[in-house]
This record gives sequence, C-alpha cells and structure tokens, in this order.
Amino acid sequence: DLLFLLLIICAFLYCLHLLKDGPLVKVGHLNTYVIGSYLEHRFGEKQIKTIAIVLRREQATFSCVMCCDGTTVRLPAECSIHDDHFNFEYGTATIMCTIKSTCLTPTHVAITASGVSGSLTSFQPIRNRDVPTTFPYEFTICISVMYDYKSVLNLVQSMEMFRLLGAQRVVIYKTNCDSHTQKVLDYYEKKGFVEIIPWTIKKHIKVSRGWNINKSPGQLQYYGQIPALNDCVYRYMYQSRYVALHDLDELILPLKLKSWTELLPELKIKYSSNVGFEFENNQFPFTAKAHADYEQDKWKNIQGVNILNYIDRVPNLPNTFNNYKIIVNPRLVLKATVHGLLESVNRSPTVRVNNSIARMYHFKNFTYPPNTKLVRDYHLWDYANYLIPAVSKVLQASGLIEA
Ligand SMILES: *[C@@H]1O[C@H](CO)[C@@H](O)[C@H](O)[C@H]1NC(C)=O
Ligand SMILES: *[C@@H]1O[C@H](CO)[C@@H](O)[C@H](O)[C@H]1NC(C)=O
Repeated sequence: DLLFLLLIICAFLYCLHLLKDGPLVKVGHLNTYVIGSYLEHRFGEKQIKTIAIVLRREQATFSCVMCCDGTTVRLPAECSIHDDHFNFEYGTATIMCTIKSTCLTPTHVAITASGVSGSLTSFQPIRNRDVPTTFPYEFTICISVMYDYKSVLNLVQSMEMFRLLGAQRVVIYKTNCDSHTQKVLDYYEKKGFVEIIPWTIKKHIKVSRGWNINKSPGQLQYYGQIPALNDCVYRYMYQSRYVALHDLDELILPLKLKSWTELLPELKIKYSSNVGFEFENNQFPFTAKAHADYEQDKWKNIQGVNILNYIDRVPNLPNTFNNYKIIVNPRLVLKATVHGLLESVNRSPTVRVNNSIARMYHFKNFTYPPNTKLVRDYHLWDYANYLIPAVSKVLQASGLIEA
C-alpha cells in the first residue's frame, strides 16, 4: 500500500514538475506549439480540445497524456488543421482526444507525438472544466495580435469606446509594444478590464505581417492571428455571454442605439438567438481630410492619431461583397476565423446585420482610389463628449499627461 501511495505521489509530482501554464509550449521534436487545452462539453462524449500551431506538411500524429488522480493516461488524438491557413507553412490546428472511462476528470494534459517516441514535454491545465450557469462578463473583445504597437492614443480611444459600448473585458494576445503603451496596458490590467496573454510565437517561427504570403513573406499568417482568436473564444466560452472578434482599430457601432448592451437583444429578436452577427466593414482613412473640431491640445504629444478627426468614409459598393467582423455567443463556435466562423454548432453560423442598424467603423491609414467621393459620417461624434474626458483621465492615470 505504501508503495502504491508513493507511486501516486511520484506521478503527481511528475505532473506538477512538467506543468507549464503559458501559451506556446513546443511539443517534443515536432514543429507543433500548444496554446491552450479546453474541456469540450457540447457533444455526447466529453473531449479535450487543444488549440495549436502546426507545421502543416509534417502531418504529425499526437497523443494526449492526461493527469488523472495521480496517474497518467495516454489517449490517441485526432488533429484537424483549419482550412484558413492562407498557404502559409504553419496553420492552426485543433487536437482532440475523447475522454474515456479510465479517466473522466482529468485536470492537466500534455500533447505528445504519438507512439513510444513521444516523450512528455509539459502538462497544461485543462480549462473550462465546469460549465457555469452565469457568466462574469457580458461582452469580451478578443484582440489578436498586438505587435510592435505604439499608437497609445488609438489604444486608449478604442478601450474607452469599448467600455462605453458595454465590453467588460478585452483580451490582448501581446507580442510587444512600446513603454507608453505598456503603461496604459498596466493601468487597464490593474482595473481588471484587460487580460494580456503573452504571444511569443515569433521566437520559434517567422510570422508574416499580413495575410498574403506573396506580399508579406513568413511562415504563419498575420502574426498568428487565427490561433490566437481560436484560443480566446475557447478561453472565454464560459466566462462571457458574447465575444467580439475584431482589431483595436475597429469599432462596431450601433447607429440608432448607444451600446451593444441595447443592440444585442434587438438583433436576437430581428434575426435569431442562435447565430453570430456580422458587421459591415467601413473604412475611415487617415489620408482623408482631418476635421479638427475635437482636437485636444492635451493629447498633442501622445503618439497615435485622434480618430475623432476622421469622419469621412469610403463608400461601400452596393451588391458587392463587403468584409465584416463578428460578435457571437462563443458557445456556438467550433472554429473561428478572421472574418466570421469556419465551423459552428449550427448550419448557418452567422447573419449579416443590416447596415442601417449597425456597422463597423475601421480607422486606419487606408489608401483609396483618387476621385472617390467620401461620405461624411458624423456618428462617432455622438460619443465625443463622453470619450474626450474618459481618454484624458486614462492618459493622466497612466502618467502620460499632466492632470
Ligand atoms: C436595411 O434596412 C433598411 C431600413 O429598414 C431597408 O430599407 C433595407 O432594404 C434593408 N436592407 C437589406 C439588405 O435588407
Ligand atoms: C499614411 O500614409 C501616407 C502614405 O501612404 C504617409 O505619407 C503618412 O505619413 C501616413 N500617415 C500616418 C498617420 O501613418
């Protein structure tokens, strides 16, 4: 009996010893990087799903090694490489193991190469082990990926708009930023508004700065945006009623209501409660004329562009495809992609919201064809009287401007 007890303790210590709770754990000799592992409750049999980045041509096969009441149990895994790899060498994968009666309540899992050669590298906690009936957050925004970021003013303006719209949490997969941006992130992290997930994939592989491999060479699409988004959706699946999947320079604005808190119940009634909502992209180029009505002297030494100066948008052509970003109940999502969902628990995963109800406002240094007749759109200014003092307050609290 004593020997048995000792064995259990050893196995337990072994699991703890190999425990790593950071995204991006390399799997043995394989070119696979594990991000996070989650319990999947939505099908008959429970599964462990692990979001990973894999070298597609390696076609590796995997096992899950689970820590279970002091012992380890090895199960075969299925690896599904997501289709939206944009022809980069690396892509997102979901590595899935079905839980068997030998271990019904695993706490930790290590992904290994299958077969005897698969040595254990590290265990990660299995998240989403419980399904709560209420969620701490109503709206969570998944921001993938913060890379070489220094537009402090844009960051604070977006964060304060997100708050006004009803977001209670912003998750940022962060590679790097400048010291002023870090001060602002520290401020929001301390307030509990932001969660930073370290995103260190560039230490291992060469990330592309874009989605088009011919224009932006590299081994993985746009800094690894897609695996980060998928991880975020699973991480917040039982923490947030909705997740919004868009970038820092994008704002989903209702046109007649003030906030997402008011908008989403209306969308559920008008469309369905079982779908994600697509919001049409509208470009507001910084190359257009600046309207300085809300220029702030106080902000003039802060890096970034005051988005309140940009109220001219590039018209979207009717009857052509317009891109979009989504807000969705994460429990409907199986695989997320940049624009919408790759796979969901439904047949028709997302619906387009009529652009007279809401749109996405996208502020960026866009170029657009000469002779384009831009459309004046004052809607952002509806938020100005709230936004300006809120932004100044955060810049002060972060020590970036004088009180
Ligand atoms: C969007 O809503 C407007 C106003 O209700 C309506 O005139 C228009 O036909 C709708 N567009 C689509 C594509 O349904
Ligand atoms: C926008 O792009 C133009 C040319 O492409 C450049 O001259 C300008 O400095 C850029 N502005 C900002 C704010 O990045």
